[in-house]
Amino acid sequence: MKMVSTIAEMQRLADDLRCQGKRIGVVPTMGYLHEGHLSLIKIARQNADSIITTIFVNPTQFGPDEDFAKYPRDLDRDTKLAETAGTDILFVPSAEEMYRDDHFTYVTVEKLTDVLEGKARPMHFRGVTTIVTKLFNITKPHVAVFGQKDAQQAIVIERMIRDLNFDLRIIVAPIVRDNDGLAMSSRNVYLCQRERIESTVLSQSLRLAETLIAQGERKCSTVISEMTKLITTTSAKIDYVSIVDAETLREYITLPSGARVLISLAARFGTTRLIDNTIITV
Ligand code: PAJ
Repeated sequence: MKMVSTIAEMQRLADDLRCQGKRIGVVPTMGYLHEGHLSLIKIARQNADSIITTIFVNPTQFGPDEDFAKYPRDLDRDTKLAETAGTDILFVPSAEEMYRDDHFTYVTVEKLTDVLEGKARPMHFRGVTTIVTKLFNITKPHVAVFGQKDAQQAIVIERMIRDLNFDLRIIVAPIVRDNDGLAMSSRNVYLCQRERIESTVLSQSLRLAETLIAQGERKCSTVISEMTKLITTTSAKIDYVSIVDAETLREYITLPSGARVLISLAARFGTTRLIDNTIITV
């Protein structure tokens, strides 16, 4: 596996690969890799010839009161994991390499970013769509793999690809979970033992929603209130529990049959904010 830290070298290598007729797959990450990230690299391998994994903790997608400074980092461990999972090139730029002092340009997707995570974290998606655009221009991929773990992120990026005619295909990979159901996340290391045990209530509430809907419940307020009741048996503070259309992100009041819906939530255990979701067809 080759390590690259400059934009110029990464673009030259991507051009070389394209000249050789190789299909490039990219997996953008912020590092501190876990099985969820590694599953994306493996899926990229199945869909492209040369795999570029990127590691960059992107300052522009963190709010001023968020965890940018303390976001977990371990490049030595990440390097080994990325290589074992099948990465050919690991792109690890510095913040100075990615953002000059006079960086004035941002990419924004409207409407879809006004709700859910976008509402709770203003400017977050502007940072995500800007860095993902830069990473696409630097790695020149044919295929990019994102996780359903960040469902709204994947939906926003898919819309950006469509609206701005990016010449690449997005694959959205399923959520990888620990044995007890907690969705894997680099942020799970922040949880103390008690919070880690309590956090399983998040995936349990999503399974409860799936069961209620499978049993015929169609009123979203009922599903949301049952989920809320379950989550608040723990110390969790709920940011939101929401049921929306999986493409438009418009809220449902009553679920129409055949609808593809995104049931998502965000909750805090102490200072740690976790998100989880499920997508189902009613
Ligand atoms: P990060 O949180 O490191 O996640 C990188 C990718 O891994 C994302 O596509 C995310 O959805 C996916 N992922 C995380 N946990 C997962 C899990 N348990 N199962 C499956 N996939 C999982 O998302 C970002 O970084 C950043 O916003 C980024 C896109 C890199 C832009 O900075």
